Amino acid sequence: SEQKIRMFMTILQLINDRMEAALNAAGAQGAPAIIQLSSKLEFGDYQANGVMAAAKNLRMNPRELAQKVVAALDLKGVANKIEIAGPGFINIHLDSAFLARRNETALKDEHLGVTLPPPLKLMVEYSSPNLAKEMHVGHLRSTIIGDALARVLEFLGHDVVRANHVGDWGTQFGMLTAYLLETGNANNVAMALSDLETFYRNAKVRFDESEDFANRSRDYVVRLQRGDPEVLALWRQFVEVSIAHAQDIYDKLGVGLKREHVRGESAYNADLPMVVSDLQDAALLSDNDGTKVVYLEEFRTQENQAMGVIIQKKDGGYLYTTTDISAIRYRHRMLGLQRVIYVVDARQSQHFQQLFTICRRAGFAPADMALEHIAFGTMMGDDGKPFKTRSGGVVKLADLLDEADERAYTLVSQKNPELPEDKKRHIAHVVGIGAVKYADLSKSRTSDYIFNWESMLSFEGNTAPYLQYAYTRVQSVFRKVDDYDADASILILEPAEKQLAVALAQFEDVVLGVAEAGYLHHLCQYLYQIATLFSRFYEACPILKSEGAVRASRLQLAALTARTLKTGLDLLGIEVLEEM
Ligand code: ARG
Repeated sequence: SEQKIRMFMTILQLINDRMEAALNAAGAQGAPAIIQLSSKLEFGDYQANGVMAAAKNLRMNPRELAQKVVAALDLKGVANKIEIAGPGFINIHLDSAFLARRNETALKDEHLGVTLPPPLKLMVEYSSPNLAKEMHVGHLRSTIIGDALARVLEFLGHDVVRANHVGDWGTQFGMLTAYLLETGNANNVAMALSDLETFYRNAKVRFDESEDFANRSRDYVVRLQRGDPEVLALWRQFVEVSIAHAQDIYDKLGVGLKREHVRGESAYNADLPMVVSDLQDAALLSDNDGTKVVYLEEFRTQENQAMGVIIQKKDGGYLYTTTDISAIRYRHRMLGLQRVIYVVDARQSQHFQQLFTICRRAGFAPADMALEHIAFGTMMGDDGKPFKTRSGGVVKLADLLDEADERAYTLVSQKNPELPEDKKRHIAHVVGIGAVKYADLSKSRTSDYIFNWESMLSFEGNTAPYLQYAYTRVQSVFRKVDDYDADASILILEPAEKQLAVALAQFEDVVLGVAEAGYLHHLCQYLYQIATLFSRFYEACPILKSEGAVRASRLQLAALTARTLKTGLDLLGIEVLEEM
């Protein structure tokens, strides 16, 4: 049965199951074990924290309960030392032979030994810029975090639908159309929009200065919504040009968004009247002097009234939320998604909580369809204010990514002046983009983070260049070896080997945790730990100077380290290099 358990459970799940059985046997029926990876070496490898709460419920002394639990705990073949610490923590030290087998299994498996969960059909919605403007840094976090999350979920075998819910509908298109026609550019849209940002700015100036222009703009909005072929044709071109701009950015960033993942707000337009009538039928809609509103008791206004979410304005116009409701309805009925993940700025939190509540109540999203807002904070400049150009303008993403390449190129040229030019350029690109992505992913997404070129491009500390370099260092070992045996057994003898082996065996629990809660910084932290433990191991346990089975085993640990780093970085959307 040991064999069977190993195949179907992660270490965390295994310890959890055994610990809960022990809690039951000790009289704490149904108490959660609360197993975590230990934060410090002296706390063992895994830690159970559930005893304290269980003892409180039973009105028992927690250390006494802990002793009973440990006496009943069966971790034969898994742990070789179990200790009680503090008020009743249980620290678990894994058995070296058990670890060695896990590591060997990981080495032979294309998923590095990760226990794959039951596959789901799920969607990661990310990037989702408003079109008609160039992409700016405000879109970076969603694009990077969403892509990494999609990669993690795909790695775990889920059927992942990527969605780019672009803002391609709304009043700004009336303004742009008016400006296009006024400047005589209707036959030359691509050309006129080659600098999208300037075009938009100029149109806005006209809109603000001329009443007549503003009226024409409004008229185009109405015509667009009515489906006037001339206006529709121009609008289509705006959208295509903007999407092409965005695609350039996605390609530069190496994110997996393609044209076919775009399904913009406009795609839901035709369904909006149905959303309204469905809400009406579900008796959720109130008519407030011609405005159609859903009142939500669980959201309160400052005056402690039920909050109203507007579904349709008096003039018949629909809102951002109406489109989002329609999208959920579509995603359930047409796509049959079981989990939908929205990677969107934290400032839209309330919007999503209200959206989800309405969709549940209206039956657009059944209870077993998970809806999650993966929120993130704002990207700040060194001055602690939202990131801007020196002159205070919005930073275009295209410029930011070019700067990443340039800065990395300078670094690479200093480090390695002899490299041929094209190689330097390639390394610079991989390092520069990796640095930008990793700087974002390695911070807890829920807080704001400070964008700083020097720290993200440093070869020391928790950065992409450090990890990429660590990977090439491990690989360099293999360039000096001509007798690597991919089937050799792993022997865990020294403390530095044990620490590395434990960390390597935790890959699956880390990845599964990320897939659940979307905290990619846990994976970053983990990879950084692997790189650090590898250097300690490398110093304490000579590889090439050792012999026989020990040498073969150490090479295996190095091989698993390299694969773990490479796979982990790949999940983050970051490339590695064989040499740098
Ligand atoms: N286009 C929106 C913006 O730029 C983000 C869309 C987020 N996704 C959604 N389903 N509402 O703010």
